Amino acid sequence: MTAVPNITLNNGVEIPQLGFGVFQIEPEETKDATLTALEVGYRHIDTAEMYGNEKEVGEAVRASGLDRSEIFVTSKLNNGFHAYDDALKAFDQTLTDLDIDYLDLFLVHWPLPEVGDYVETWKAMEKIYEGGKVRAIGVSNFQPHHLRRIHGETSVTPAVNQIEVHPYLAQEEVRAFDAEHGIATEAWSPIAQGGVLKDDTIVRIAENLGKTPAQVTLRWHLQRGDIVFPKSVTRSRVEENFDLFDFELSEVDMADITGLDKGERTGPNPDEFNYVPE
Ligand SMILES: NC(=O)c1ccc[n+]([C@@H]2O[C@H](COP(=O)([O-])OP(=O)(O)OC[C@H]3O[C@@H](n4cnc5c(N)ncnc54)[C@H](OP(=O)(O)O)[C@@H]3O)[C@@H](O)[C@H]2O)c1
Repeated sequence: MTAVPNITLNNGVEIPQLGFGVFQIEPEETKDATLTALEVGYRHIDTAEMYGNEKEVGEAVRASGLDRSEIFVTSKLNNGFHAYDDALKAFDQTLTDLDIDYLDLFLVHWPLPEVGDYVETWKAMEKIYEGGKVRAIGVSNFQPHHLRRIHGETSVTPAVNQIEVHPYLAQEEVRAFDAEHGIATEAWSPIAQGGVLKDDTIVRIAENLGKTPAQVTLRWHLQRGDIVFPKSVTRSRVEENFDLFDFELSEVDMADITGLDKGERTGPNPDEFNYVPE
């Protein structure tokens, strides 16, 4: 098995380019699913307070027998905690729920442009970072105009921007902005929750290479330089999604897949999404 490459973030912290996402995994399934991923070889887990399964992710990390330093753990500040003091408390609660001493990466989950002010939230993230219990801080679902405000009004550049990216939403503009500012792009819903796997172009390329449509799609992300963490509760798929390092897509295959972009989201548009749980 070829090792998963690391990406070096803008503060020198290294993140495995391929991880395991736990969105929509029921809490009672999360410990086993995460342990399966760790057994298969994943060393990067992406969770969030919003997913309701931080506790079980923490249990898996501790039960894995791996040293804490071998696993990269990301969580996210939930909507509803954007005010400065609320964000500080929410970070402490996330560490308590995961029951681990530090996080590797903590993200503002959504900008929520009409709820409070994400610049104030980012100032709280800087305070959390200064506290030393998180190795890197970043954002999720931020558009370039949100990032420009952070850049102009605060001092720490986000280490990552986690956004929806897949062949039907190639996100060239946001990815280019991220790259220009030293922000790593993380691609969420990398296979569009399964929605791109029957695409004729992706199926054709997969058949030519003797790989699956999911592997071809994930390989496209890796060759673009993005960080991915596909989710699956199915062991064979968890293995399949990790088996990406014995083939390469040609420039033509890469361009054909990028050419499938039709600006189609599976999730909300960050400029319009202002949902805060009760
Ligand atoms: N920041 C954000 O706002 C945000 C939003 C969404 C997601 N995320 C993160 O991104 C991660 C991944 O995104 P996602 O969970 O939305 O979607 P995804 O990884 O694109 O797709 C997951 C779905 O595809 C199926 N699947 C997985 N591998 C497969 C394969 N090899 N062949 C066929 N089907 C396969 C899974 O089914 P089974 O599980 O039944 O096998 C599941 O239904 C999340 O878990 C989360 O960590 C972040």
